[in-house]
Amino acid sequence: ASPKYKFLRDANLQASRHLPDALIIGVKKSGTRALLEFIKLHPNVQAPSSEMHFFDKNYARGIKWYRNRMPLTLEGQMTMEKTPSYFVTKRVPSRVKKMNPYVKLVVVVRDPVTRAVSDYTQSASKKPPALRKSFAELLYLNGTNVVNTRWGIVRIGLYARYLDAWLRFFPLDQFIFISGETLIVDPAAEMRRLQDFLGLKVIITEKHFYFNTTKGFPCLMKSETLATPHCLGKNKGRAHPKVDGSILDRLRQFYRPFNLRFYQMTGIDFGW
Ligand code: A3P
Repeated sequence: ASPKYKFLRDANLQASRHLPDALIIGVKKSGTRALLEFIKLHPNVQAPSSEMHFFDKNYARGIKWYRNRMPLTLEGQMTMEKTPSYFVTKRVPSRVKKMNPYVKLVVVVRDPVTRAVSDYTQSASKKPPALRKSFAELLYLNGTNVVNTRWGIVRIGLYARYLDAWLRFFPLDQFIFISGETLIVDPAAEMRRLQDFLGLKVIITEKHFYFNTTKGFPCLMKSETLATPHCLGKNKGRAHPKVDGSILDRLRQFYRPFNLRFYQMTGIDFGW
């Protein structure tokens, strides 16, 4: 068990379960697992490892169900949860607001083109090879080069549109936008921003990371549960299939106006 939990058991202190103070709401395939694993290293953060899907799929189970699934915390520790589908699910923002109008909202975003290929790679990996369609076949409407905006994998990349829905319920200063690209090349920089935003002392720094050249990603010197160097699992940082450059260009062009709007809304140029 984690040393944090051992401490909770040993100390005769009042540990209790709380609803989340902060949520990682998305975006799927942008680095949400990495961000959660990294922030869980902080001694003042507790979070379940699995996705609760409370505000989208399990809402009928009730808020007590949700709270009971949260880890024990001591005074001064905050509770977090991550479910990436929250960002794109219509009914979620109003429900989250009902739980806590001051909750902090964490959004990891990545170039929507790369995100789409990553999402496609994951969904193809779940199908038998004979049933897999190519990225191009799924991207274009039959026999055209018109992007199929009904394809869920394309839609999730329309960040401005989903952020609009959230901004009807929460002010912009309750959100932090983490760059999925920076999270890979300089995880400590994004973790510093996140800890500041959450009002935490900056404890997770460069010292916690090393770049594993075999994996091609930053890994942890130690995790919440392991005292040894450790990378995310095989399903994080998969090799992507080769997609024709012209197809990626077409998709990049499609996203351009939506990206620009997203930069305007957030005040951050993500450089996609
Ligand atoms: P790929 O597997 O397509 O490379 P999520 O956790 O939101 O599903 O995001 C998965 C993506 O996180 C991975 O997509 C990978 O690019 C990215 N990622 C960011 N930091 C990572 C890290 N340290 N280790 C592994 N993957 C990381």
